[in-house]
Amino acid sequence: MKEHQMKLAILRELSQGGFHSGEALGELLGISRAAVSKHIKGIQAWGVDVFRVQGKGYQLAAPMELLSQQVLEQQLDVPFELIPIIDSTNQYLLDKQDSLASGAVCISEYQSQGRGRRGRQWISPFGSNLYLSMFWKLEAGMAAAMGLSLVVGVAIVEALERLGIEGVKLKWPNDLYFQDQKLAGILVEMSGQAGGAANLVIGMGMNLNMSEQTEGIDQPWTSLSTVANQPFSRNELVVEFVRAWQAALNDYEVHGLQGFVERWNRHDNFIDREVRLIMGHREIRGIVRGIDATGAVLLETENGIESFIGGEISLRKADN
Ligand code: ATP
Ligand code: BTN
Repeated sequence: MKEHQMKLAILRELSQGGFHSGEALGELLGISRAAVSKHIKGIQAWGVDVFRVQGKGYQLAAPMELLSQQVLEQQLDVPFELIPIIDSTNQYLLDKQDSLASGAVCISEYQSQGRGRRGRQWISPFGSNLYLSMFWKLEAGMAAAMGLSLVVGVAIVEALERLGIEGVKLKWPNDLYFQDQKLAGILVEMSGQAGGAANLVIGMGMNLNMSEQTEGIDQPWTSLSTVANQPFSRNELVVEFVRAWQAALNDYEVHGLQGFVERWNRHDNFIDREVRLIMGHREIRGIVRGIDATGAVLLETENGIESFIGGEISLRKADN
């Protein structure tokens, strides 16, 4: 068994709940107790909270629902790959683009090189969050790609609402927020052009029940378990999100942003609030007035309503 297959096998046991002795785990996998202990350290390094009680064995600090190949296979009607340990689900699809059909999905439990915009890191511990990417051949071409993170954001917020989870908002152009804390981020990457169509990968990382002890995130963040006042299933969320993305992307191909602007604005985290727009060394203050039909963010400044668009713009709270 490959090194990380051992760790995954141990995690499958631990995810059943209760204590598991080093001896029993070792027997199951045909390895020594010392080897089990080494693998547990590796599992902890993936960001999983496992503790040991003398005489009882190992237990997960919080219950963990692993992503299931079987459940997803039954429910999804797109080609998908569940790869528990990966560098980045976006990178995986970018590398495979020539052999992929539009709508193909990659999902993971842990990313060693999860990334955000402009080379920033996306913290991706094992088993507690979602890391989901979809390949999409955008017939409308490269110029329309800017709208994708907006469309996908609306699709996610509305899917959550259908599941009874309210209060998640959008931050232009690519984040999901709850009470001014980052819940999820969307990253659209282009891998090239085939004829008029643009080959794109859309990725989302959403925190579901990330440990409060998680380090390395330099802004306020939250998890869906804090937002929702009911339990939810990680597998069910994947299915709902994939379906919602597909529907939204097909709609976008035909109608463009038309049907999304009002829906986006209804969920805008910063609507009618004062913000700063940072563009390299330039900074502009104004009151957010939503997005326009091109997907640009509208800011009311001393010059009236101005629109801003482009990948190098960051929006921040005025007092932040
Ligand atoms: P903007 O895109 O507007 O510049 P941003 O600061 O959110 O805003 P992104 O590139 O969108 O930047 O996202 C990466 C940032 O997200 C990281 O620098 C970090 O602050 C934060 N981050 C990283 N991992 C997580 C996570 N799991 N949950 C919440 N936030 C995270
Ligand atoms: C952001 O806020 O900048 C976007 C973060 C996007 C993270 C997701 S996780 C799945 C996919 N794979 C990656 O490496 N990044 C995206």
